Amino acid sequence: MISFLKNKHIILGVTGGIAAYKSPDLTRRLIEAGAIVRVVMTQHAKEFITPLTMQAVSGHPVHDELFDLQAEAAMGHIELARWADAIIVAPATADFMARLARGEANDLLTTLCLATCAPIAIAPAMNQAMWKNTLTQSNLEALLAKKFLIYGPASGLQACGDVGPGRMMEPADIIEQLNAIFNTGLLAGKNILITAGPTREAIDPVRYITNASSGKMGYALADAAIEAGAHVTLISGPVNIAKPLRATCIDVVSAEEMLAAVLEKITHCDIFFSVAAVADYRLKHIFSEKMAKKAEEITLELVRNPDIVATVANLPNRPWTVGFAAETDNVLQKAKNKLINKKLDMIIANQVGNNLGFDSDMNTVTVLWEDQQKSFPLMPKQKLARELIQLTSRLSERKIVC
Ligand code: CTP
Repeated sequence: MISFLKNKHIILGVTGGIAAYKSPDLTRRLIEAGAIVRVVMTQHAKEFITPLTMQAVSGHPVHDELFDLQAEAAMGHIELARWADAIIVAPATADFMARLARGEANDLLTTLCLATCAPIAIAPAMNQAMWKNTLTQSNLEALLAKKFLIYGPASGLQACGDVGPGRMMEPADIIEQLNAIFNTGLLAGKNILITAGPTREAIDPVRYITNASSGKMGYALADAAIEAGAHVTLISGPVNIAKPLRATCIDVVSAEEMLAAVLEKITHCDIFFSVAAVADYRLKHIFSEKMAKKAEEITLELVRNPDIVATVANLPNRPWTVGFAAETDNVLQKAKNKLINKKLDMIIANQVGNNLGFDSDMNTVTVLWEDQQKSFPLMPKQKLARELIQLTSRLSERKIVC
């Protein structure tokens, strides 16, 4: 099974039922599947399993208090809610289901469930009579109506000796279900070309002009597009990030090399994301030997580099073309100008400088297309990439010829 859980931020909520003994196994399997797991325990959960066990298997301190100054200082509950790509509550007791269905926020776990935009799945576990009780069943209906994902419960012999529905779904099956959340198939079969990272323009054999782009956003988009079922080609300037496993990766150094690689791969491309921070200028004449330090002042003669995304946007059978605009000021107006002048279908604008954007793991952007726009709050670049892929698949759908 392909793991779509790689690098996903998963909150595992543990509530107070005997099935909590399966939670360490679930945590271990999540981590094996590549997820990063933060455990949140209710007070009653700690009667069944210790926070120390959950800390040891997850590799992170357990979160259990809503009003804990130290925990809030480390990662506050709103930050934790934003951090999550998905929440799985396993086991979920009848009491927890009731509190969730009523929209209560009287402990950390229910508060997170209210505060997050991530999908929430629950794996109920309780005595079979409690499960069949009409009150639990009406809570279940309310949760299903509000798009909570309900995993199980399984039927069989219960800890109390009863036989019937109410056993927590097995951890391996929960992993399979969680995996399916991220396997969206939104871009199934589409060819996506992405440029990422900076370009490097040589001055002499050991010196160059470049910029602070880390490549993280482009690589995150590549991962998200692969996850959505696309065939991805990633053309990257020099960066220090591991290559996505299921992409065709081409390394380039300069803007001219990047343009040549893009034009070679553009023919069957459905969507082009120009995420690279392409150097605007290159040296008119690269020094063939290392420049020695002689004069007090020197002048380097620079010439304009080709505009890669504009070149693509002007091709006769152009793909759906997306640009990025990293700006320090007047962000939206400058992005709008680039959308129009470069003839793009969509542009993703973000503020850079002051630790924002470049080289950061978090980003907040506004997407502009036609005369519309949509803003995304500060979130991890991986999560943002998945949001951008969702929006792209929706907007590009009518224009892509399959
Ligand atoms: N871009 C490109 N080729 C270039 C310069 C930029 O393909 N030579 C693309 C970037 O990948 C991005 C978009 O154009 O998708 C906007 O890049 P940006 O650097 O913000 O714009 P520039 O055109 O370089 O304008 P300026 O430097 O004046 O802001």
